[in-house]
Amino acid sequence: MNIRIRELCNEDTGTLAEIEAKSFSMPWSKDDFDNLLKHDYCFYLVALADEKIAGCCGYTESCKEATIDNVVVDERYRGMGIAQRMLGELIRRGEEKGVQAFTLEVRAGNAAAIHVYEKLGFASEGIRPGFYEKPAEDAVIMWRRK
Ligand SMILES: CC(C)(COP(=O)(O)OP(=O)(O)OC[C@H]1O[C@@H](n2cnc3c(N)ncnc32)[C@H](O)[C@@H]1OP(=O)(O)O)[C@@H](O)C(=O)NCCC(=O)NCCS
Repeated sequence: MNIRIRELCNEDTGTLAEIEAKSFSMPWSKDDFDNLLKHDYCFYLVALADEKIAGCCGYTESCKEATIDNVVVDERYRGMGIAQRMLGELIRRGEEKGVQAFTLEVRAGNAAAIHVYEKLGFASEGIRPGFYEKPAEDAVIMWRRK
């Protein structure tokens, strides 16, 4: 399977909303993705598997710190290294743009995501108790610093 990573564009947002709806209890909508494209401080990448949209990740930047707000891979394409490829590229391009540190929050029970983030150099720096709803769960706060 050919995997390609490129920047998010308008044509992607409907498909991403469908992937979100299958992946999260509180999914982002098409409008949420459309809004990202209006702001310079948001930077998003999509992964294409044989030219079909397989997932996305991105960040919001402020003062050289980037908060990764969304990472998702369509369930049909999980376990193929796509999240690691996308996030590696997001970090590389972010650093080129001057980002010095990346942070994110993840459900404490999301072992697959935590494994991916640790492989990419993120480390836990704290817990936000009861941060998530549907179902209630703690958030692990992770950082990747230069
Ligand atoms: C988390 C997610 C983005 C990972 O995407 P992916 O493309 O399948 O990830 P990759 O294939 O790059 O890597 C998955 C890694 O997790 C590992 N893994 C899978 N299930 C695991 C588990 N239950 N516990 C620990 N590690 C696990 C895999 O072995 C692999 O690691 P490896 O390359 O060292 O073998 C995807 O599962 C997803 O979209 N989940 C739903 C949305 C979500 O939870 N997003 C994160 C929100 S913070």
